[in-house]
Amino acid sequence: MKVYIKTYGCQMNENDSLYMMGILKERGYEIVDDLEVADIALINTCAVRKKAEEKFYGKLGEIQHLKKKKKIIIGVGGCFAEKERDKLLSKGVDFVFGTRSYSKVGNLVERALKGEKFSYFEDHIDEITSQTPRIVSSHHAWVTIIYGCDRFCSYCIVPYTRGREKSRPMDDILKEVRNLVEKGVREITFLGQNVDAYGKDLGDGTSLAKLLDISKNIEGLDRIWFLTSYPSDVTDELIDVVASNEKISKNFHLPVQAGSNRILERMRRRYTREEYLDLIYKIKNRVKNVSISTDIIVGFPGESEEDFEETEDLLKKVEFERVNLAIYSPREGTLAYKIYEDDVPHEEKVRRFQRLLELQKSINKKLNESYRGKTVRIIVEARSKNGLMYGRDIRNKIIAFEGSVDMIGKFADVKVNKITAGPLYGRLVWLEGSER
Ligand code: SAH
Ligand code: SF4
Ligand code: F3S
Repeated sequence: MKVYIKTYGCQMNENDSLYMMGILKERGYEIVDDLEVADIALINTCAVRKKAEEKFYGKLGEIQHLKKKKKIIIGVGGCFAEKERDKLLSKGVDFVFGTRSYSKVGNLVERALKGEKFSYFEDHIDEITSQTPRIVSSHHAWVTIIYGCDRFCSYCIVPYTRGREKSRPMDDILKEVRNLVEKGVREITFLGQNVDAYGKDLGDGTSLAKLLDISKNIEGLDRIWFLTSYPSDVTDELIDVVASNEKISKNFHLPVQAGSNRILERMRRRYTREEYLDLIYKIKNRVKNVSISTDIIVGFPGESEEDFEETEDLLKKVEFERVNLAIYSPREGTLAYKIYEDDVPHEEKVRRFQRLLELQKSINKKLNESYRGKTVRIIVEARSKNGLMYGRDIRNKIIAFEGSVDMIGKFADVKVNKITAGPLYGRLVWLEGSER
C-alpha cells in the first residue's frame, strides 16, 4: 500500500508528518511523492490564516478529482482538521484526526481501508517518544520539546488547534537527540510554539536553558537551534547559555507582531514595545554577533497610520536579520474575531505590507554589507533552484556558492564576494575532510 503525505504550515507540522511516515513505514506502507500512484492520501493541514485553508481545499479538490478515476482513501490531520472536525467528513474526506492523535495513524489508516468514515481526536501525544519510528531525511532534524500554547494571543488559532502547553520529559528528548546523532544527524532544532516555556509545566526546574546546556555536550552534535521564543519568557539564564557555547545558534527568533503598545495590548501580547526593545538590547550586548528575527502582522483591527509607523520605527531600531510578514487574517473562534471589526481596508493592509517589505530589504542590504570579504563557516544544506549549493552560518544567514551535492551535511568555509538583500554569494575555500 502506498501513502502520499502533503504537509502545510509550520515546522511542527513538518515534524509530525515525519513521525507519521516513520510509523506507517514500520507497518509496511510505502511512502510516495507521487499522488497519482497513492492508495492513501494524507493531508497535514494548517489554519493560521485563510490562505492556508485555501491551499488545503485546492489539494483536496485535486485528490477528489483523482478519486473519480481510482480508489484512494483521504485522511486529514493537523490544525485545520482540529478546527473543522466532522464537517470535513461531508466534504469527501474519509477520516479526520487531531494534532495529538497522529501516533495512531497506522490504526486510523487501517480502519479507513476497511471502509469506515470517522473522526478521531483523542490525545495520545505521550506516545510520541524517542522510541517512535521517524524519518530522518537529512543531517538536520526537528525535535519538538513542548506541545501547544497557553498564550491566547487574540488573533491566533493555535491554542485552539494545538491545545495546552505540555513539555516532553527531558530524558526522553536527550535520548531522541542521541538516537538522531547515531543516524548521522549533526544539527537539531528544538521546537515549540513557545519554546522558552519548556519545562514550566513539569515543575522540576527543567528549562530550555538547561536542555541546551546538556545537549551541547552530546558528541557528534554540531549545531543546536531553538524556535520560537516568546519575548517575555526569555530568561537571563537562556541568554547566557546561548552566549557561552559555539554549538548553540546565535539566532533568536522573537516574534514582536507589532510596534505599537496600543496594538500589542489588543493582540494580548504580554510585553510592551519598551520591554521588547530592552530585551533586544540585552541580547545584543551579551551575545556576540547575534542575529534577531521576527514575525509581524500588519493591518490588525484598529491599526492606525501612527500605530503602523511605530512598527516601522521598531524595525529600524532593531535591524532584524529576517522578518516574516503577514497580513491580518480573522480567525473564527479567536477573541479578536469576536470583539474587533476587521476594519483596515485590504488595499491599506497590502500597502503597509509592501512598505515593510521595502524597508526590511534596505535593512538587510545594509546588514549584509558587514559580510563582504569575510569567510563564513556553514554546514552545506542543499542545492538551490539556480543550481548553486547553499548552507547557513550559525547566525542563520544563507550563503550560496558553486559546489556539488556530495558536500551536503559537511562543514564548509565560504568567502563572501557578492551581497544582495537576500542570500549572500561566495567562493568555497575549505570543505570538511579536505586539506586547507
Ligand atoms: N508561537 C509563535 C508563532 C505562531 S504562528 C509566536 O508566538 O509568535 C506564526 C505566525 O503567524 C505568528 O507569529 C503571527 O505573526 C502569524 N499569525 C498568527 N495568527 C495570525 C492571523 N490571524 N493573521 C495573520 N497572521 C497570523
Ligand atoms: Fe499563537 Fe500567541 Fe501562542 Fe504564538 S504565542 S502560538 S501567536 S497564541
Ligand atoms: Fe499552522 Fe498549526 Fe503550525 S495553524 S502554523 S500548522 S501550529
